[in-house]
Amino acid sequence: ISLKPYNTFGIDAKARFFVDITGLAQLQKVLELKAYPKKFIISGGSNMLLTKDIDALVMHIKLEGIHIVEENEDTVEIKAMAGENWHGLVVWCLEKGYGGIENLSLIPGNVGTAPIQNIGAYGVELKDVFVSCTVMEMATGELVSFNKEQCQFGYRESIFKNEAKGKYIITSVNLRLTKHDHHIHTGYGAIEAELQKNGVVYPSIQDISNAVIAIRRGKLPDPKELGNSGSFFKNPVISRKAFDKFIKKNPEAPHYETEDDQFKIPAGWLIEQCGFKGKRFGDAGVHDKQALVLVNYGNATGAEILALSEKIMKTVKDTFGIEIQAEVNIIK
Ligand code: EPU
Repeated sequence: ISLKPYNTFGIDAKARFFVDITGLAQLQKVLELKAYPKKFIISGGSNMLLTKDIDALVMHIKLEGIHIVEENEDTVEIKAMAGENWHGLVVWCLEKGYGGIENLSLIPGNVGTAPIQNIGAYGVELKDVFVSCTVMEMATGELVSFNKEQCQFGYRESIFKNEAKGKYIITSVNLRLTKHDHHIHTGYGAIEAELQKNGVVYPSIQDISNAVIAIRRGKLPDPKELGNSGSFFKNPVISRKAFDKFIKKNPEAPHYETEDDQFKIPAGWLIEQCGFKGKRFGDAGVHDKQALVLVNYGNATGAEILALSEKIMKTVKDTFGIEIQAEVNIIK
C-alpha cells in the first residue's frame, strides 16, 4: 500500500504491511505478532521524510478521544489520545474556553507526535502545558507514564528523539490548561501586528488563535495543497563567541538570545541569503514565502528532497560557517 496519503510531504513510499490501530488492546496484540518482526509507526505523518519503501508492518495510530481528567476553579487537566488531530484538539479547547495551546493553532500532525519534537510556535511550546504522556513499550506491550521532567524537553527536542527513540509508542498526552485567568502570550511581533490590524485590544484566546492562523496561512504552505513538513530545519543555536564573529560580518541578521547565553539564528534567513528561497529543482523545492520549508510540487521522491536538504546544509555551512540540522525525522 502507498503511504502517500499518510505523510504530509506526499511521498509515494510503499508499506509492506499496514494496519490501523484503534485500541490499546489491539496495539498490544499487534506488537506481539511474531510474523512481522519489523514494525514502523506512523501517526499524523507531518514530521517525517520517507526516502525508501518501508519493509515492515506499518502501524497507523488512530487512537481517538479527548476527556477531562480533573479540574478546579482555575485549571483543567485533559487527556487526549495520540491519534487525535492536533489542531482539532486546539479547536476543542477553544470551544470549551480552555487556554494554553491557542498559539499552537494549525500545527499539522497528531497529538501523539507533539511531545516527540516538543512542538512550538509564536512563543509557546508544548512543554509549557504538558503534564505527562502514556506510552506503550514496544518490547513488552506495557503502558508506562512519562512526566514532564522525564521527557527532557528542549527546543524541538525530547527523550523520544534520543535515548527513548524507537522504544515506545505514545498513546495519549495529558495537558494542564487554564479556565479563566488566561496567560495570553502575545509577546511576538507578528501576533501583535495581526491583532492591531484587526483592532483587537484585549485579545481572547480565540483572537490569538485567529491571528496565528492568519499568520501561518500567509507563509506556510497547506500540506493538502503542497506537500511539506513544516520547518525542515531547526534554527541553529550558536555560542556567543561564534555569534560575535557572525554578526560582525552580517550585522543585519535577525537573531534571538537564548536563556543560556547562546544565540539562535533563523535558518530561514540563512537559507534565503544563500539564494534558495522559492527555488525549484524538479518537483523538490524551497517554499517561496518561508525558506525553512521544503516542498514537494507533486512527484518528488524522498531521496530528491533529502538531496536538496543536503545541498542547502552544505551551502549554508560554506557561506556562514554555521551548521544547520534537519528537524524532520528522515527515514533512511
Ligand atoms: N526569515 C527570512 N527568510 C525566510 C524565513 C524567515 O529572512 O525565508 C526571517 C524572518 O524575516 C524573521 C526570522 O527569519 O526575521 C524568523 O522567521 P519566522 O518568524 O517565520 O520564524 P522561524 O524562526 O523561521 C520558527 C519555527 C516555526 C514557527 C515560527 C513562529 C523552527 C524551526 N521553526 O520559524 O515552526 O511557526 O518560528 O514561532 O523553530 C515548524 O516547526 O514546523 C514551524 C513552522
